Amino acid sequence: MNNRKTVKDYIRTIVDFPHEGILFRDVTTLFADPRGFRMAVDQMLHPYAGQRIDKVVGLEARGFILGGAVAHQLGTGFVPIRKKGKLPGAVISEEYQLEYGEAVVEVHDDAIAPGETVLLVDDLLATGGTAEAGIKLVERLGGEIVGCAFVVDLPELGGRKRLEKMGMDVHALCD
Ligand code: PRP
Ligand code: ADE
Repeated sequence: MNNRKTVKDYIRTIVDFPHEGILFRDVTTLFADPRGFRMAVDQMLHPYAGQRIDKVVGLEARGFILGGAVAHQLGTGFVPIRKKGKLPGAVISEEYQLEYGEAVVEVHDDAIAPGETVLLVDDLLATGGTAEAGIKLVERLGGEIVGCAFVVDLPELGGRKRLEKMGMDVHALCD
């Protein structure tokens, strides 16, 4: 019997992935369950109902799954922020540090028009490095971030504080 009630109940933890000492919060078990996935998408967009949102921006890779569904529900367009070298058109880039390693993310330079309002979506907020890079890309294009929505926040890694210091509205479904 399925006795999972909250979004958190659908997320499993994999110990020592991808490196020793990391507790990996695996949302594939949430995505795989029709009730869990719908609950997560509905709860992510709920705080923004009634606000003007022109684009949902999703961060690779799990932010695409959530962001696409959120955009569909809100009736907006979807813009992917991808790891370096994946987008075919002209891009702008931002470097950032991860909880484990470093990377570069990119967005098409014509994906967001100046003045468009944006909801940023990802599965998980850890150090906030990925989200901060995404925010910078959106703002460099002239987009205005209405909010940043995540399924999981890992508060001990400081991401929420980091984004709030940038003036962001941060919404996470669970810690
Ligand atoms: C994970 C997660 C976030 C990011 C959070 O993605 O999906 O995007 O890390 O970490 P941060 O807050 O410390 O930046 P990952 O880089 O593992 O990429 P993937 O989704 O492509 O596997
Ligand atoms: N991305 C960064 N840290 C993570 C974690 N602990 N679990 C899942 N994804 C992550």
